Amino acid sequence: MERSLSMELVRVTEGAALSSARWMGRGKKDEADDAATTAMREVFNTVPMRGTVVIGEGEMDEAPMLYIGEELGTGDGPLVDVAVDPVEGTETLAAGGWNALAVLAIADKGNLLHAPDMYMDKIAVGPEAVGVIDINAPVIDNLKAVAKAKNKDIEDVVVTILNRERHQEIIHQIREAGARIKLIDNGDVAGAINTAFGHTGVDLLLGSGGAPEGVLAAVALKCLGGEIQGKLLPQNDAELERCQKMGLDVNKVLLMEDLVKGDDAIFAATGITDGELLRGVNYQGKIATTHSVVMRALSGTVRFIEGTHTLSKKPHWVTNKI
Ligand code: FBP
Repeated sequence: MERSLSMELVRVTEGAALSSARWMGRGKKDEADDAATTAMREVFNTVPMRGTVVIGEGEMDEAPMLYIGEELGTGDGPLVDVAVDPVEGTETLAAGGWNALAVLAIADKGNLLHAPDMYMDKIAVGPEAVGVIDINAPVIDNLKAVAKAKNKDIEDVVVTILNRERHQEIIHQIREAGARIKLIDNGDVAGAINTAFGHTGVDLLLGSGGAPEGVLAAVALKCLGGEIQGKLLPQNDAELERCQKMGLDVNKVLLMEDLVKGDDAIFAATGITDGELLRGVNYQGKIATTHSVVMRALSGTVRFIEGTHTLSKKPHWVTNKI
């Protein structure tokens, strides 16, 4: 893949964020998602690549845009798998909450797991704790291992976990162990990525979230030198059958190489609303500012990018009106 693709891809997440942030706190998640998806697709089609969506907004008959199998890009350039989440945290955005992101990842064709839209159990850590976690081990063992790897007491370890009823037992175990917890309403891609940035104070992510989000987080953690392990969690016979049809073993622990193969991959995200890692879009009349991160696995380079956008010079998806 061309290294210049990184910059091209930031334009895609910037477009999605600029467009959908208009809907912040307006209680309309579908409209917010639609705005992001429309902008993302439009900018994607100016990027010199031959991409196919492997993680997107749904199957062809479910989603008008960015559906699985949709081809993206100018039709010149590398053949790539594309994973998108135009709004990671749609409910958060609609409610005006914390940490909504526009997110994408690409890798050479065939290298991203085509994760079905179902739950995945996850454990993720930053670079210092790579190799010490085991998704099948008891919570206490993982907490001890991470504490040791990071040279801290277990009481200093902070776990991010989605605030869901299904996580009550894990939350109980973390509390019993004496570790601390940061509950998040949504957005476990950001939750996983934050484990790789010391200033967030987060050491690991535990619990279940979307499987597609697990693949997106895996690309980011590959670039950052971190680790995520996942296990698919089909909720019914139909989902189990779907896994079987796709040749996915639900008992298998999905390791980094299963989630994203090869040496190279690119991850980009732009903040829609403010979060620990990225600030959200700030409209200031004639201009708007964005805050993005783009990273590449091959080089390990991580860039934070501040964008100032002159709204009158942007295409229709950045108008001042809704
Ligand atoms: P979307 O906004 O893309 O739907 O995802 C938000 C999210 O919080 C993800 O970050 C997470 O993986 C998933 O939803 C968790 O699902 P649920 O809300 O069903 O627990």
